[in-house]
Amino acid sequence: MSGPSTPPRRHLEAIALPTPVRFTEGDDLVTAIADAADAAGVELRDGDVICVASKVVSLVEGALVDLPDADDPRAARRELARREAVRIVADTPGVLVIETRHGFVSANGGIDASNVADDDGPARALLLPIDPDASADRLRGQLTARFGVELGVIVTDTFGRPWRLGQTEVALGVAGTAALRDERGSTDLDGAVLEVTEAAIADEVAGIADLVRSKASGTPFVVVRGLDPDVPHGTGRDLVRPPEQDLFRSGGPTAAESAVGARRTVRRFDPDRPVPPTALRAAVAAAATAPAPHHTRPWRFLRLRPETRTRLLDAMAERWRADLAGDGLDGDRIERRITRSDAVLRVAPELLLPGVVLDGAHHYPDERRAAAERDLFLLSGGAALQNLQVVLAAHGLGSAWISSTVFCVDTVRAELALPDTWVPTGMLAVGYPATSPPPREPVDTDHLLVER
Ligand SMILES: Cc1cc2nc3c(=O)[nH]c(=O)nc-3n(C[C@H](O)[C@H](O)[C@H](O)COP(=O)(O)O)c2cc1C
Repeated sequence: MSGPSTPPRRHLEAIALPTPVRFTEGDDLVTAIADAADAAGVELRDGDVICVASKVVSLVEGALVDLPDADDPRAARRELARREAVRIVADTPGVLVIETRHGFVSANGGIDASNVADDDGPARALLLPIDPDASADRLRGQLTARFGVELGVIVTDTFGRPWRLGQTEVALGVAGTAALRDERGSTDLDGAVLEVTEAAIADEVAGIADLVRSKASGTPFVVVRGLDPDVPHGTGRDLVRPPEQDLFRSGGPTAAESAVGARRTVRRFDPDRPVPPTALRAAVAAAATAPAPHHTRPWRFLRLRPETRTRLLDAMAERWRADLAGDGLDGDRIERRITRSDAVLRVAPELLLPGVVLDGAHHYPDERRAAAERDLFLLSGGAALQNLQVVLAAHGLGSAWISSTVFCVDTVRAELALPDTWVPTGMLAVGYPATSPPPREPVDTDHLLVER
């Protein structure tokens, strides 16, 4: 009876090659691998792939640099990662994810500050190898010459992954073995044509190697034996997704929609969590991408110091009391309103006074056009403030845009010595929300977007 041919039964081995060597610049990795293989009683064979931890490659290649001055080692490492970045992917107090020159995206750019400093020397950190594919290929050539067998080399490092917890080993540099196995166009068991499947073989091999490695006890080399020899060889670069195929770079339309929707007015804040200056700066940078008339940059944000906040709110309250008394409200009702406003503005961890400057506005002799011109600048101020709130929300920060200053412009200008061309657009209370805001109701756009 003849059925479909049974695929060959594969058998895979991962053999750790521990080494006592503490590597430094200029050390010979080939000799170290040969000694480690000898000590482990392993004879290298054709098709074996040696996985080498990128840390030792960086060490022998002299990729050590001084850590920049900073308050603490963590801040120093982040600063170094920032300098190494070609793109900041995510910058939060918890983690800094960057894209490196190689196109790798990882926390702190794979910079390693552990076990690399001399005891009494300056604090140092280890960068990724300059060209991991070149390192892998050089090593492959040297190993093949030394052992007289065809070997593959994968330079590996530990990266976290979006959407999944835990880190795994990935292939940074690949030589003499497969990187990707393209399965597109082949069929599955049911005969369906596979359209997108590409197996990240080198990453998987790196992961297998890690299973027998012990980071604590120095196992930078692992032999993986039994891989399919027929998969075409590739490089580590093959595993880096080209930017134009990277949907998550912009997040696609869904990310923009959810980022905008995540901004909610938050009026109660966690008093114990200060607003990180980096988040504030990122939000102001986003504000400054708002459209504005005549190529101006009219937006301003005053970050009020505690004493300025108190002085300004006191003066505004006086003005408000006079306005409300003029409306005929009794004292109790007036004080209740002020107390309600104070509950947000006086206690928010940060209070910003947003506004626009009219310096770049065109001058018109008639009030109709002069008012329209002023409105344009105010509209741009609104767009900027919205951008600011959206990015604050992306950093987990809540904010409340409060009208107050718009109703007492003269008081604000007088208290803060602002010129007549400085127009406040409200107040912005900022902080981490005390409770999570409720989800948004779906919006019916039918009556918002109409044809005429
Ligand atoms: C120009 C402007 C002025 C606002 N003034 C106040 C205010 O004085 N007090 C307040 O509590 N909220 C104020 N808000 C916030 C709105 O009440 C809030 O946007 C609305 O409740 C919708 O909630 P959301 O922002 O979470 O979508 C203001 C919003 C804007 C755009």
